[in-house]
Amino acid sequence: MKVLVEKNYDEMSKKASEFIAKEVKNNPNTILGLATGSTPIGTYKELIRMHKEENLDFSNIKTFNLDEYVGLDGNHPNSYRYFMDEELFNHINIKKENTNVPDGKTEDLLGFCKDYDNRINEAGGVDLQILGIGSNGHIAFNEPAEELPSNTSIAKLTEETINANARFFDSIDEVPKVAISMGIGSILKAKKIILLANGKGKAEAIKKLLSSDKVSTRLPASFLHLHPDVTIIVDEDAYSLMK
Ligand code: F6R
Repeated sequence: MKVLVEKNYDEMSKKASEFIAKEVKNNPNTILGLATGSTPIGTYKELIRMHKEENLDFSNIKTFNLDEYVGLDGNHPNSYRYFMDEELFNHINIKKENTNVPDGKTEDLLGFCKDYDNRINEAGGVDLQILGIGSNGHIAFNEPAEELPSNTSIAKLTEETINANARFFDSIDEVPKVAISMGIGSILKAKKIILLANGKGKAEAIKKLLSSDKVSTRLPASFLHLHPDVTIIVDEDAYSLMK
């Protein structure tokens, strides 16, 4: 596991976007695994800038997002599909049909989950997966628990995650309690992974992740120790408890 410590959020975002841009330039058919949340917004902004100012080309790129709230359709401003359209897809030359976000309104949740993993595999697998991390160490919606799913499945959000995500909703009651989420195994199938973390709120999780190579379902991100090509890109605040 490689660790890059950047001065602040902007520098972290710049580093992550350079990482992604390099991949996209090397292989115009790259399959990207994408995350939502506050962390990657700066990275996406920088990719948009590179597209507009440096002609970074996304025309043959495919994407698969990690997760989506169950019950929200893509037009809901809090859905992850809406987030991705607003924060990235609408501003670059990606083909909408090449972008995949789990369907929160599917009538066949289990069938959808199974099919999502199949679709990723059939596309050739994710080349570069971008991850954030929860303050409790979750990745995607794989929350600390006794057991964790390998494959894409239905995830119940913990109290902590519901509280953290409430900032995006008018009231906490509106935060969906269930999501579709790629499993730990689905994530680990990516050829390369970058995990981004910024701010003091992530310092504890980063400390737990980096101070031991043990794998535990109580710290879902720890499964990244099993992967041969992971780069953790953090700002100094997220790294502050390592000093
Ligand atoms: C989002 C996702 C989540 C977030 C995590 C951190 O697609 O899978 O695991 O990466 O909750 O969220 P932020 O970046 O808002 O702190």
